Amino acid sequence: MRKLWGGAFAEDTDGLVNRFGQSIHTDLHFWQEDLIGSVAHARMLGAQGVITHEEASVLMRGLEQIHEEGPKNLPQDVEDIHTAIEVRLGEIVGEVAGKLHTARSRNDQVATDTRLYLHNELIELFDLLKKLQGLLLDQGSQFRDALMPGWTHQQRAQPITLGFHLMAHFWALQRHGWRAERLFELANYSPLGSAALAGTSFPIDREATAHELGFIAPIPNALDATSDRSYIMDALHVCAGIMIDLSRISQELVLWSGREFGFVSLSDGVTTGSSIMPQKRNPDMAELIRGRTGRVIANWVTLATTMKALPLGYNRDTQDDKPPLFDSMGKVKDAIKLVHLMLESATWNLERMSQSVWGDFSTATDLADFLATTGVPFRHAHEMVGQVVRGCLERGLVLEELDAARLREIAPDVPASALSVLKPGESIRRRESLGAPGPNAMQRQLEHGRRIWESAGFGKIA
Ligand code: ARG
Repeated sequence: MRKLWGGAFAEDTDGLVNRFGQSIHTDLHFWQEDLIGSVAHARMLGAQGVITHEEASVLMRGLEQIHEEGPKNLPQDVEDIHTAIEVRLGEIVGEVAGKLHTARSRNDQVATDTRLYLHNELIELFDLLKKLQGLLLDQGSQFRDALMPGWTHQQRAQPITLGFHLMAHFWALQRHGWRAERLFELANYSPLGSAALAGTSFPIDREATAHELGFIAPIPNALDATSDRSYIMDALHVCAGIMIDLSRISQELVLWSGREFGFVSLSDGVTTGSSIMPQKRNPDMAELIRGRTGRVIANWVTLATTMKALPLGYNRDTQDDKPPLFDSMGKVKDAIKLVHLMLESATWNLERMSQSVWGDFSTATDLADFLATTGVPFRHAHEMVGQVVRGCLERGLVLEELDAARLREIAPDVPASALSVLKPGESIRRRESLGAPGPNAMQRQLEHGRRIWESAGFGKIA
């Protein structure tokens, strides 16, 4: 195996050591970031007179050629991507390639690569989150008045609308957007030029490389710059949070597409069949998202465990920060796209959803609220309605079927004017408090959501 070190070693390393320590296959994920970082470093070395302008141009042209060739020409019998690129550069430009590593170490290099990778991934993530939010906003308006049950404790609670429910997911994604934006900023500082842990005696310009690479500024302490992995933990946490919320949407789709609910039908493009039962239409993508959420959570725990009690200074343990990062980023991006596809192509059975609310006693709270508006203390109203519910159950009736005569028989204290609030549609129309599903409140919420969604980035809450 070709290495960037070995001068002090009389014998070759064991084959197992090579295999156990190799990261080239994982590193190929960020081969471009490694090149871009090297170009900035070479330019800066030339500008500072650490190497000549000619040498810097030769190095940059060589790196450019590697970029054009793509990763297929990079050697694989090497430890890592940094070695692969330096070896290939040597093949192209000759001995001057050995000057590229002046005033840097793989320790600042790998930290730079990971931050650049994260930067690009987050831009993609922002875009996917925004697209899914856009769909939720559109469907939130489309289904603003579509009645459906609302649950607490997984028991029928109060009627809501599908638009209201979808908008709840919109706001969850909004928070992920804000978190990811914060992470984007925190991660956007440059470790390059910190060298192994303690800087360098060469007159380098860390501001210049930071600026060229799009970072806000250099990280002020070289030891911190090469030891810190908190930005990866933050990214893994953001990924886990998004997956957790996508798993909740997925669980709803699994549940609601089953015959017991029959609320939604998922399209052919996002479902699969069974090899034995011809009638089956399985929501596999939703199930996989639900299942893979476990792994994305575990990725965060994996790195947090690695970092716990790790002394400052580069430690090889942190080589393994990248597989979880690449894995979580890949999974979360796919999961967002799949949830988008599933929702975009879903057919909602609005009739069945609204019918399912009928007879579930979920307007009982509205009745209690109504009585309270007539001056009855709410606690007492609650008890009177309890009596109405019991009376109905004993007679095999549902609230919507009550008429003045039956109401008088069951609960003589409840006036007949209360009957008007027992219809689910009426129940929703009356709930107009801020954040409630009433049509006017929902309209305001939809406009608020759209205003934020249309602003740059993830906007501000106000
Ligand atoms: N493959 C290593 C990593 O990902 C690169 C840095 C290696 N540095 C070292 N001193 N061995 O962390």
